[in-house]
Amino acid sequence: MKKQQLQETIDFLSSKGINQPEIGIVLGTGLGKLVDEINIEKEIAYSEIPNFPEATVEFHSGKLIFGTLSGKNVVVMSGRFHLYEGYTPWEVTYGIRTMHGLGIQYLLISNAAGAINLSYKKGDLMLIEDHINLQGNSPLAFSEAKEFGNIFADMLEPYSKKLNEQLKVIAQNNDITLHEGVYASVLGPQLETRAEYRMLQILETDAVGMSTVPEVIVAKQLNIPCCAISVLTDECDPKNLAPVDIQDIIATAGKAEPKLVAIFKELINKL
Ligand code: HPA
Repeated sequence: MKKQQLQETIDFLSSKGINQPEIGIVLGTGLGKLVDEINIEKEIAYSEIPNFPEATVEFHSGKLIFGTLSGKNVVVMSGRFHLYEGYTPWEVTYGIRTMHGLGIQYLLISNAAGAINLSYKKGDLMLIEDHINLQGNSPLAFSEAKEFGNIFADMLEPYSKKLNEQLKVIAQNNDITLHEGVYASVLGPQLETRAEYRMLQILETDAVGMSTVPEVIVAKQLNIPCCAISVLTDECDPKNLAPVDIQDIIATAGKAEPKLVAIFKELINKL
């Protein structure tokens, strides 16, 4: 049933000319400008794609973009789905399965996250080297999941070491600070309490956010090498907690975005 549903989506997109994308990209909150760099061939609103979930959060435009970037065919999800919007884990990761069906060989992910490691500052970038899933569910926990691959997917290397090494070199060559760290995914949408921030420190996480982990788990089931960069949009100091303003998060993401765009563009060029 789910397999058939997904195939319909893939067939529709192929029939619209989305053929042989090499790289899939998911753009996080406030991080849509990479799209301006793409030589766009096709742009399809999620609402027009059969069986695709529909975007609800207003700052996500909700479309699939196909074109070339740094000489490669890319397919971009501009607007992602979050568990906190009420989507199921299957829906949250539907786009990843779709892009896999279309043929992507790499997956690049971005997100906005809070800095738990207080030596990392608002506006800095962090390469995710590992994660802790605190969302209380898995996108592989459904009855038909076996039809899509190993549900006992190993998590030895959820983020490709090869891609991460390349990203570090690129950042260094461009004088961009790229921290490395562990990303904790929470359900949200409320932000964390002081006690939760202290817990995240004790767990030795470096950043916290409400996305990415389901997508990475599915990428792992599908054997797609992936990498993810967090734009740190606020500092989560339990001793000095300031109210978080979502507009401020989006504005900070926007200011840091050119660094992310530069790094991703160069990585794509090298793949
Ligand atoms: N917590 C959770 N998610 C976030 C945060 C945060 O502080 N900042 C940006 N996304």
